[in-house]
Parts: sequence; structure tokens; C-alpha cells
Amino acid sequence: MSKEIYVRNIFSAIARQYDFLNSLLSLRFDRSWRKFAARVSEVTPKQRVLDVCTGTGELALAYASELDNRTSVIGTDFCFEMLAVAKQKVEKQKRPHAFLPIEADTLKLPFSDDTFDVVSVGFGIRNVSDIERGIREMTRVAVKGGRVVILEFNQPTAPMFRSLYLFYFKKVLPFIGNLISKNQDDAYGYLPRSVMQFPDCIRLKNIMGACGLQDVKFYRKTFGIVAIHVGKKK
Ligand SMILES: C[S@@+](CC[C@H](N)C(=O)[O-])C[C@H]1O[C@@H](n2cnc3c(N)ncnc32)[C@H](O)[C@@H]1O
Repeated sequence: MSKEIYVRNIFSAIARQYDFLNSLLSLRFDRSWRKFAARVSEVTPKQRVLDVCTGTGELALAYASELDNRTSVIGTDFCFEMLAVAKQKVEKQKRPHAFLPIEADTLKLPFSDDTFDVVSVGFGIRNVSDIERGIREMTRVAVKGGRVVILEFNQPTAPMFRSLYLFYFKKVLPFIGNLISKNQDDAYGYLPRSVMQFPDCIRLKNIMGACGLQDVKFYRKTFGIVAIHVGKKK
């Protein structure tokens, strides 16, 4: 089975429990990580923002709260069930037009070159079958000087914390996640496996540089559990 189909199946299966489990398993830190990712992009109220692999729209909504009343964030994802949850959330918002979810593949974004001031991805690029192609595509649709923002899990480096965390991440989290989501395909075992294979902060910075981004900076959060990379399109 291709990675694309595998990933889409996993997210279709857990879409309804995704937000709840995210909050529970991250002890609600996920909200502050997304808020930080929106702030550090230095987005201004009228700017055009695209959030790819938007899923249930949590990062897109963090961006929407930084924009003015007439500006919308576009969120794309290739998983219908995740977008269905996003759409339900949009309807409950005070400003329903603040976020527009659209079905699209991150590797073939349906937008012209140089369209968005900020192109973001939260916990998504790791799942894309070709990470470098995904970042190139995000860069293509950003304007010159526009920011590409990547929020992703990472591996903590401090030895004591690292061993404790890896025990939680590899053993406890998959057990609780699969149990609560009633997933029989080990969807929450896929999470640590994919994080272990994901490039570390320096490598990701270099990949972003090779994809046409400059001044790439990264910020580690919560003992290095996640990192936020920001680069500017040349
Ligand atoms: C872990 S979720 C992240 C959701 C959201 N960004 C967040 O911050 O919680 C990853 C999402 O990436 C999507 N995804 C993975 N590969 C994709 C691709 N090639 N094109 C579009 N969406 C993709 C999945 O469908 C899933 O909804």
C-alpha cells in the first residue's frame, strides 16, 4: 500500500476523535504550539494565509484569530473525513468565513505561484509521501519574501527527559490513542514511528534551504517535543 493511501486511511479512521486525543495526549500543549506557530510567522491582519494538511483546521483557526474580520485562511487536506470535522467547526465559529476548508493534495496545490503571504503546515509534512516535494510546493505558492512555517514533532535531546518521553511516546501514547479511537490498524503507533524517521531540526532547516527558502530559523518548544521552522521565500 502506498504511503498516501495508508495515511489517508489512518486519518479517515480517527477523524472524529482526532481533536480530543490531540488535547489529551499532548496535555493541551498543542494549542500553545499552534498559537506560537501563528505568531512567529509575523502574519499581519490582512495577509493571505494557506494552511496545508489542515486536517480538522486547528492551525488554520489559530491563524484566523490573527487576521481581521474580512480575511480568510484557506485550509487544504486530502482526507475528506478530517475536512468534514473542520467544516462542522467552521459553522460553529463566530466568523464562519474566517476559515475555508478545501480538498487538495499538498503535492499538487490548486493555486498559482506567488499567491500567499504565509503558507503553514502543522503536524502534516511528516505525513506527506515526499517531504521535500511538499515543501517545494508550499514555497511555490508563497509570495517572494512570504513565510513557510512548519510545526512538527521532534525528538527531545536532554538525555533524562528523552528516555522518559520516548517511553511515553512509543508505549503509552499508542496504547491510549488506539484504545480511545478504537483503531485496529495501530494509527497511534504510526505517530511515533513517523516522528523517529523525520529529519532533525538542523536537517529540516537544510532541506528548507534547498527548497528555495532563506533565513530559516527554528524554535524548539516544550523540551524539544516540537519545533517550529520558519523560512522566507527567496
Ligand atoms: C496529523 S494531521 C494534522 C492536522 C492539523 N494540521 C493539525 O495541526 O492538527 C495530518 C493531516 O495531513 C493530511 N495529509 C497528509 N498528506 C497529505 C497530502 N499529501 N495532501 C493533503 N493532506 C495530507 C492528513 O490527511 C491529515 O489530515
